Amino acid sequence: MPHFLDIHKVDPSDLRNMLDQAREMKNARKDRPKGAPDDTAPLAGRMVALIFEKPSTRTRVSFDVGVRQLGGQTMVLAGSEMQLGHGETIADTARVLSRYVDLIMIRTFDESVLLEMAEHASVPVINGLTDRTHPCQIMADIQTYEEHRGSIRGRKVVWCGDGNNVCASFLHAAGQFGFDLTFSGPEKLDPEAAFIDLARESGVTVTIERDPVAAVQGADLVVADTWVSMHDSQSTKERRHNLLRAYQVNDDLMRHAKPDALFMHCLPAHRGEEVTSSVMDGPHSVIFDEAENRLHAQKAIMRYCLDV
Ligand code: CP
Ligand code: NVA
Repeated sequence: MPHFLDIHKVDPSDLRNMLDQAREMKNARKDRPKGAPDDTAPLAGRMVALIFEKPSTRTRVSFDVGVRQLGGQTMVLAGSEMQLGHGETIADTARVLSRYVDLIMIRTFDESVLLEMAEHASVPVINGLTDRTHPCQIMADIQTYEEHRGSIRGRKVVWCGDGNNVCASFLHAAGQFGFDLTFSGPEKLDPEAAFIDLARESGVTVTIERDPVAAVQGADLVVADTWVSMHDSQSTKERRHNLLRAYQVNDDLMRHAKPDALFMHCLPAHRGEEVTSSVMDGPHSVIFDEAENRLHAQKAIMRYCLDV
């Protein structure tokens, strides 16, 4: 029973099949109303639990709509309103939910909650973001890159800013999809060394470049994310902004990337902080395609998990 917990835990050929299927499903329903079902209903009779211990717009809506397009049903649950938030163990919650639903997607804080859920559930579990990783996002990002520019293999991706959960999943994807990744941010906010090592072990080049202008030279893709993630204490906001200000993605910085470089951001973005509006709304930006592709990529992820 395959879970979808992290990109490096899934076979590269399965990842590739998911992206092919996502593209096919997207093309097959062009111009169709969002609420109309797909031609086939692979999730007919399936119930999917979507559990959120943190806020969400994209993950929540894209999973919910995706399940419905595939002919299944959803229930959206706030972690704080479940017994999960009041002392019942994750393991018991996983065993109970497995008696009611066919698939669990969870967004949580500590990665151990996700892993414990997967260990004790008898149905597949999907990672909808933890403090450490965000694999569904990066599947949508790769789909988006390839839609615009063809294969991402051998390309140069530059991450500007905080070495956070989204950056970690980009590092996992670098090894699996064969692209090089340059991290440009302050040393205090470097990605976990283990994630960098893992990518390097798979043969791709991971570079740390403190100077953002040097980092983006020759970039095919520039990526930014918020400077303060949901798991970061608000009391660190000022310190983080001071550390990260030099890494803002703006028109001056984008001029040093390849002329046809793409810009991505998983959203929500803070316009004028990690990225300017001119870049968000400018010719390099594919941010709303990324958001849309969450829907298509996750439909393929769910079909992989349920083998349908
Ligand atoms: N990118 C993303 O995961 O957005 P949400 O937090 O709105 O789900
Ligand atoms: N790094 C951000 C991503 C939000 C989708 C966070 O964890 O808050």
